Amino acid sequence: MTRRSDPGAGKTAPDAVSVDDYKTAMRHVVSPVVVVTWLHDGKPEGLTITAICSATTEPPTLVVCLRGDKPAAERMRAAGRFGVNFLSDEQPDIARRFSSNPGHDGEAFDPGLWTVTPGGVPLLDRAVSRFDCVVEQAFEQGSHVVFLGRVTDLATAPGASLLYRDGFFRRLGTE
Ligand SMILES: Cc1cc2nc3c(=O)[nH]c(=O)nc-3n(C[C@H](O)[C@H](O)[C@H](O)COP(=O)(O)O)c2cc1C
Repeated sequence: MTRRSDPGAGKTAPDAVSVDDYKTAMRHVVSPVVVVTWLHDGKPEGLTITAICSATTEPPTLVVCLRGDKPAAERMRAAGRFGVNFLSDEQPDIARRFSSNPGHDGEAFDPGLWTVTPGGVPLLDRAVSRFDCVVEQAFEQGSHVVFLGRVTDLATAPGASLLYRDGFFRRLGTE
């Protein structure tokens, strides 16, 4: 089994793998693509992420990880609520829009596509699955802030999930 290309690079503890090897291994993994959203000073903000999955079913809870060195994590923590929008394979443009600075201001939110819930969370009408979450926990773990969000509302729309692997957005294929 090939484990490491350079066993010494970036190690911090005797049983640690290198950050580069970890990133390379994770590039092989297929992820769904999500735009997480929140309100900051009453304005919608959002970010494209792939570090998202179900944490627990009872209660329905999602786990989301945001880089700790960007303003987004602190703003989402301050909002106390966030939206999770699983994009469809017809929405790679939205993924691109929210993966750079414009996603942090209201201009990225096309008013024809988004609805702000009564709780104050922007949700994308055509997202294949969308969730309104309240922050149950937010804690720092290394480079990221880990959010546990309890789901307080949800909706679905027809379509297949947009995927990401090895630097490219992708569509689901059948065997
Ligand atoms: C496919 C993809 C997945 C990403 N996943 C995450 C993620 O899980 N967590 C995160 O904090 N940022 C993630 N990002 C990065 C953010 O979308 C954004 O690009 C980054 O925070 C840069 O923001 P800046 O414009 O403020 O520098 C991802 C970006 C892309 C394109």
